Amino acid sequence: MKKVTFAILGVGNRGKNYAYRLSTKEGAEVVAIADNRPVRTEATNAFLHLPPERVFSSGEEMLKQPKMADIMIIASQDKQHLAHSIAAMEKGYDLVLEKPIADNMEDCRKIVETAHKYNRRIIVCHVLRYTIFYQHIKKMLDDGVIGKVESIEATEQVGYHHFCHSFVRGNWHNSKTSSPMILAKSCHDLDLFLWLTGRTCKKITSFGSLDFFNKEHCPEGAPARCSDGCPVEDCPANAVKYYLSRIPQWPATVLHPEPTEENIMECLRTTDYGRCIYQMDNDVVDHEVVNMLMDDGCTISFTMTGFTSRQSRWIHIFGTKGDIVGEMKEMKFTLRLFGQPEQEFDLSPLYTDTTGHGGGDGRMLDDVIKLYQGVDFDTSSITVIDRSTESHYLAFAAEYSRTHGGETVDVEEFCK
Ligand SMILES: NC(=O)c1ccc[n+]([C@@H]2O[C@H](COP(=O)([O-])OP(=O)(O)OC[C@H]3O[C@@H](n4cnc5c(N)ncnc54)[C@H](O)[C@@H]3O)[C@@H](O)[C@H]2O)c1
Repeated sequence: MKKVTFAILGVGNRGKNYAYRLSTKEGAEVVAIADNRPVRTEATNAFLHLPPERVFSSGEEMLKQPKMADIMIIASQDKQHLAHSIAAMEKGYDLVLEKPIADNMEDCRKIVETAHKYNRRIIVCHVLRYTIFYQHIKKMLDDGVIGKVESIEATEQVGYHHFCHSFVRGNWHNSKTSSPMILAKSCHDLDLFLWLTGRTCKKITSFGSLDFFNKEHCPEGAPARCSDGCPVEDCPANAVKYYLSRIPQWPATVLHPEPTEENIMECLRTTDYGRCIYQMDNDVVDHEVVNMLMDDGCTISFTMTGFTSRQSRWIHIFGTKGDIVGEMKEMKFTLRLFGQPEQEFDLSPLYTDTTGHGGGDGRMLDDVIKLYQGVDFDTSSITVIDRSTESHYLAFAAEYSRTHGGETVDVEEFCK
């Protein structure tokens, strides 16, 4: 069977994760990597063992070379996706593109137009679609087990520590330098709703704000950096306590690919990851609600919140014959058909890997490999760009609503 070849642009947290997973798969080979931080290319090449001429000091350098792989994975930061994607497609690559496609509608459109112009395939990393949990629920809905879906309630529990790490201190803390929260974190959920229902969204509204992680809530005497001896003993977000306790796992690995105590402490003294969560320049919301009206009358209510101890997703789907309720982290859901006993579906025995978005990262790569090997399988769930953009346009519409007092947005009009 053909080995599918990959070049990876950006081997930070996501790119390195893909590189590692691909290096363990029979049908795949990573043939080139690029990152402008040598510490990142070195950490990735420690297990890939590529020759020096296949390790590039930037995506731009890699893209000066003739095409050298079937697929380029674009795993640079949100605002870089436009330039990197277009240059890669011009060079002849199909893409596996990290979500979000881009941080604004115009750039998303430019990427789609370029894909059409050069007839390139782009698979967007909506990795949750590939999880065993959501795939089982999707099959049940497609089989009509609960009848017509009339409403969905869902909550994205971002998790307090994940929220502080990524959305107060980390890459996505400020929408001016990255993306609004509903896009950065929840375009996954919007994509899931479109895919699960198989419908499109007609109207959307949203409310939400940054209420807690700001200077107003800063305890007296808290220094700018946790490493400067913070007197607040019970702060759950103390960076020194938290990141040292995470060695050698994520997110300590985000701070440094070799997360020794020394390297982590150095990062806490010199980067935003060591700063007080109440004294950052963050502007993304810490809680938000989105309401959607689908084109068949189905209504969806979605909450994203940073105020959870768990990091998980909960969903309750209400159909005309019954309802389904479950939480992704539990790897199980309950089916309640009206007038019949409840049935619990424990999916945990089916999981061989729960890491990387509940196994979604690895399963997405498996599907990509099968697609390029020409294996005959059901490709209807593959996250191709034309469908994926819809979730992004919904995120932009929701953000418009949120920043305009919760105004109801007609999605079709908005997209014009
Ligand atoms: N699918 C998901 O669920 C998911 C989860 C987290 C992040 N993401 C997305 O994945 C992307 C990467 O996120 P991350 O967490 O890996 O961030 P990261 O900052 O860890 O990685 C980005 C890497 O790109 C490198 N880079 C910057 N400019 C470059 C250039 N010109 N050429 C080559 N490399 C360059 C950086 O040095 C960095 O190592 C983002 O768009 C993010 O929003 C997706």
